[in-house]
Amino acid sequence: MPEELPPPPPLPRSTGPGRGRVVPVLLAAGSAPWEAEAVARLSDPGQGVLLLQRCLDLADLLGAAATGTAEVALLAAEVRGLDADSVARLHHSGVRVVVVADPREEPSRARLGADALRRLDVDLVLGPEDLGLVAARVREVARETATPDVPDWLRTSAADQPDEPDAVTPQPRDGKLVAVWGAGGAPGRTTLAVALAAEAAHRGHATLLVDADPYGGAVAQQLAVLDEVSGLLGAARLANAGQLDLVRFAGLARALAPGFRVLTGLPRPGRWPEVRPAAFTEVLAAARRLDDLVVVDTGAGIEAGSDDPFDAAPSRDETTRTVLAEADVVVLVAAPDPVGMQRAVRAVTDLADLRPAGVDVVAVNRMRTSVGWDRRDVVGLLHRVAPSALVVFLPDDVVAADRALVAGRTLVESADSALRRATAGLATEVLGVLGLPAAPTVRGVRRRLRRTG
Ligand SMILES: Nc1ncnc2c1ncn2[C@@H]1O[C@H](COP(=O)(O)OP(=O)(O)OP(=O)(O)O)[C@@H](O)[C@H]1O
Ligand SMILES: [Mg+2]
Repeated sequence: MPEELPPPPPLPRSTGPGRGRVVPVLLAAGSAPWEAEAVARLSDPGQGVLLLQRCLDLADLLGAAATGTAEVALLAAEVRGLDADSVARLHHSGVRVVVVADPREEPSRARLGADALRRLDVDLVLGPEDLGLVAARVREVARETATPDVPDWLRTSAADQPDEPDAVTPQPRDGKLVAVWGAGGAPGRTTLAVALAAEAAHRGHATLLVDADPYGGAVAQQLAVLDEVSGLLGAARLANAGQLDLVRFAGLARALAPGFRVLTGLPRPGRWPEVRPAAFTEVLAAARRLDDLVVVDTGAGIEAGSDDPFDAAPSRDETTRTVLAEADVVVLVAAPDPVGMQRAVRAVTDLADLRPAGVDVVAVNRMRTSVGWDRRDVVGLLHRVAPSALVVFLPDDVVAADRALVAGRTLVESADSALRRATAGLATEVLGVLGLPAAPTVRGVRRRLRRTG
């Protein structure tokens, strides 16, 4: 039996200005000599942490983590069974992993060193000499996926503004979902997802761009958004805890300009297990309630998980599958070279099981004459597998793509270019399929998208 602590008091979510949240922690120290000090530090009510349970071994820790109540696990490097899989399972339970490596206790691990432990995807490695600050370090690690404070403009209480409930909670919408998908080989999914979202926002549609690529988020980098908190992980965590309301979700989506926000993606590819399928479905639903148009950058793969009911591990591609199954419009980004075309054709075929309606728009990106065939050939090939898909061509425009990338700006904000004009055409097609009203003419378009933060 695990050594139970006295029942903890109800979790205080906030303990006043300056302090922030209290972080619930699990401890598995084995018989490490530093355990007593760690318990004392983590039990000090003034430290902003709460020791939920001392676990006997790794199995006990994994079981406690699976209840979803803890945010951080502190464990000794010598705990038996500590490996990449157990770390992934802790992450999968939404628990960050801090390991204390004590060279006196575990010479082999100590020889491996902190780098080897980090390769297990451990979030933080401490030495016994760091225990004096263990509570602070645990809080730092938890902060990365913490629920951010609700922004001031959403904090106003209903009682303060009885006539303006919209100022308190955004009015729920019924937004359309656009999946930007494509086979492997970096055909330009992220570039076109960003461009499409920016074009739509520029035309006056309240737009949320969601980075849901389970192989690592790139939207934040493309837009030079330095977000300490991953919007996707924060939203998934809230959804897991049943706390994903519109106000909190709006606090996680980063505003880039009026009517244009972004939910940033995974800070590291290895964090994908923290976005559980059920939680992700809720995140998409919240996204639709927040804005009129939700553009989602997805991963390339759509492999299904195991059918084995005893195999609880979800497929890494589950988020992409969910987006594609639920999308109002699927945009397939295809490279026009022979390899890209072959992959695109296979992708269209593979999608049929998941989405009988198939692909709505194929964006043939980086079209150029040197690929050896012309637009008619490409359309003919694509229409064999997707006869009703609209095919849109975008030029290979390295100068415009690089300029936007280097400046961390959208194509809408950049100087006029062939690529920008083509992405405007793509947006017209996608908005047309969605039946969204024709774009109002907006004067000073670049100003509209100038960053607000
Ligand atoms: N039309 C284009 N013309 C020139 N360069 C382009 C074009 N579209 C995309 N690129 C460039 O191709 C590279 C890959 O683009 P992007 O990151 O959007 O691909 P991706 O499909 O999202 O890849 P990943 O698999 O990494 O998610 C980037 O350097 C981007 O600037
Ligand atoms: Mg990408």
